[in-house]
Amino acid sequence: MSTKYTLGIESSCDESAASIVGDDRSILSNVVMSQHIHEQYGGVVPEVAARQHLINMEFCINKACSDAGISLKDIDFLSVTTGPGLVGSLIVGVTYANGISSALGKRIMPVNHLEAHMLTPRLENELLEFPYIVLLMSGGHTQICLVQGVNKYMLIGQTLDDAVGECFDKVARMLQLGYPGGPHIERLAANGDCTRYKLPLCMIDGYNFSFSGLKTAVRNMLNDSISCSDLCASFQRTVGEILVRKCIRAINQYNPKAFVICGGVAANQYIRNVLMHNMGNKVKCIFPSRALCTDNAAMVAWAGMEKYLANIEFCATYAKVS
Ligand code: KG4
Ligand code: ZN
Repeated sequence: MSTKYTLGIESSCDESAASIVGDDRSILSNVVMSQHIHEQYGGVVPEVAARQHLINMEFCINKACSDAGISLKDIDFLSVTTGPGLVGSLIVGVTYANGISSALGKRIMPVNHLEAHMLTPRLENELLEFPYIVLLMSGGHTQICLVQGVNKYMLIGQTLDDAVGECFDKVARMLQLGYPGGPHIERLAANGDCTRYKLPLCMIDGYNFSFSGLKTAVRNMLNDSISCSDLCASFQRTVGEILVRKCIRAINQYNPKAFVICGGVAANQYIRNVLMHNMGNKVKCIFPSRALCTDNAAMVAWAGMEKYLANIEFCATYAKVS
């Protein structure tokens, strides 16, 4: 049987992305255009993001095809993020998918952005079997999920207020480090004393998270004599401890085959190390490559492919933002 290929399209936040992935787990192309225009505003401006997708998306799709050496008419079906995300941004990706579908008669597999993060570890790890636990940490979401199969995701815990990436971004903003904040905090923390400042382990019981209290504790600590690198290191250590405690509890209760981290914050080497150090002896830990941790379209293409292989139905007509 010949390999099936899908074109994945992602535009839920501030990355315009297109990628072609095969059912043999080949990533033929993975084009991501990040919107640096938001840096001057200290956060993503929805209206600006939607307009940038309009400017970038055609280029992304064309480059995904040329990098892969495949023309649009030769792909088997389309996979597109239909939600959750910024509505104006999602509409751009969904409209491109509908346009290609209508012009070339390709069917569309709708993909939930979070489901794409959850299934992507299986793109790089053929041997990763269900059930596994995913810790998803991005700018908009923080969740612990038990992935039991395609379309079978059990939410174990989630943030009740700020997402962990959002907390990194807001702390970085207080320290005037720039946006997105995570990489700045990681860089400064590398030379800091992580035991210098005591920050609260907010909502340490149970599986849900609360990061807004931690953010406020950092704000209350700010004064002229504060050491920025020590504060970044202390903040990062506190986040790590909260994540570790909850994940160990989840592993003990659900006994999964593996533990996987994903989302932009999973790019943080300290967070990776602390999770690996504390959990590596209890469960197989899988850390996807950085390129597949942050938003991209290969994850959307792969989630669409997994759904196709699991006989989940395509959109009856066109895709809709959901
Ligand atoms: O998954 P992602 O690329 O986009 C979505 O939010 O969906 O995640 C972006 C988030 C931002 O909040 C950013 O500050 C954070 O991931 N991030 C990091 C690091 N790199 C990106 N947080 C901590 N350390 C990092 N090295
Ligand atoms: Zn994401």
